[in-house]
Amino acid sequence: MDYTTLGKTGLEVSVAGLGTGGNSRLGRKTGRSTKESVAIIHAAVDLGINFIDTAENYGTEPFVGEALKSIPRDSVIVSTKSHISDKERLWSGKEVVKHLEASLQRLGTDYVDVFNLHGVKPLEYDHAMQEIVPILLREKEKGKFLHLGVTEAAASDAEHAMLHRAVQDENWEVCMVAFHMMCQNARAQVFPFTQNGGAGTLLMYAVRSIFSDPTYLAETLEALAKAGEIPTELTDGDPLSFLMEEGGAKSIIDAAYRFVRHEPGVDVLLFGTGNLDHLESNLTSILSPPLPEQTVQRLYNLFGSLKGVGLDLPIFKQ
Ligand SMILES: NC(=O)c1ccc[n+]([C@@H]2O[C@H](COP(=O)([O-])OP(=O)(O)OC[C@H]3O[C@@H](n4cnc5c(N)ncnc54)[C@H](OP(=O)(O)O)[C@@H]3O)[C@@H](O)[C@H]2O)c1
Repeated sequence: MDYTTLGKTGLEVSVAGLGTGGNSRLGRKTGRSTKESVAIIHAAVDLGINFIDTAENYGTEPFVGEALKSIPRDSVIVSTKSHISDKERLWSGKEVVKHLEASLQRLGTDYVDVFNLHGVKPLEYDHAMQEIVPILLREKEKGKFLHLGVTEAAASDAEHAMLHRAVQDENWEVCMVAFHMMCQNARAQVFPFTQNGGAGTLLMYAVRSIFSDPTYLAETLEALAKAGEIPTELTDGDPLSFLMEEGGAKSIIDAAYRFVRHEPGVDVLLFGTGNLDHLESNLTSILSPPLPEQTVQRLYNLFGSLKGVGLDLPIFKQ
């Protein structure tokens, strides 16, 4: 495993982090048992992963809690999240603290290393800063969490408007951002502010559905070509085969992980799976060298101006 520093938190983190949300949620998508989901976490830790990301609404905190029973608590970095609103209203700081406490209970731990406000929308940001952060910082002083983070609502914030503000605000020590081969605009909006001791970055959407579901990819390319956003040649045959031919990648998924992993400004690449073979092959990709410079450049040229592509909502109900 390779390790790096998670921005200004100073935490030494594995460059690959196990995401327990997304569409896989430790295999809930494919009907894995609790035992199998817990085994995924143990296998990840055995392979050197020390960063585990969960959230109240993923339903996976109990699995992480179960896994933690046999992992020394200080050997892993646990990140969880609470939303700050529901369909009807914004929540108060005190309500968010209750959600934090419930997460600690489900995780069976006294503290989490990173506590994130989950999927904060641009219009919610002022409320977060004024009503929630001051109250949470008191909980931080009590030791209930070590570092404060914020994650974006990628599907409805393609321009990273919320994070663009958050990364310039010193309270946030960690941020979670969407970035992948066909959605590269965090490079301008987010990464210039997070490098050199800024907030640590957790990357999401590296593969998601766009690169794990060939039909979704083909339909997306078709729609983009129709809209004149990409060349029409990219709808013929096997349009991303250059990733394997000139790029030397083993597959589109291999290329997708390598592309994100080596982007300057990326600290931890989160990936989710409920499949032990995927866990191992994804780690192999994440620890492989970068794609050749000409392939990276081709991806910039083809897709660098796209926004909001492949940022689908989870298939699970919230
Ligand atoms: N706003 C937020 O806070 C937010 C939003 C999204 C995600 N996240 C975090 O980011 C993490 C990563 O999420 P993501 O959206 O990037 O999606 P992801 O979980 O990485 O999605 C990968 C998808 O592809 C499949 N897959 C993985 N490896 C594969 C392989 N080698 N071959 C074929 N299929 C493979 C997985 O299912 P299998 O089980 O079949 O492997 C999964 O459905 C989440 O777990 C979560 O922790 C946070």
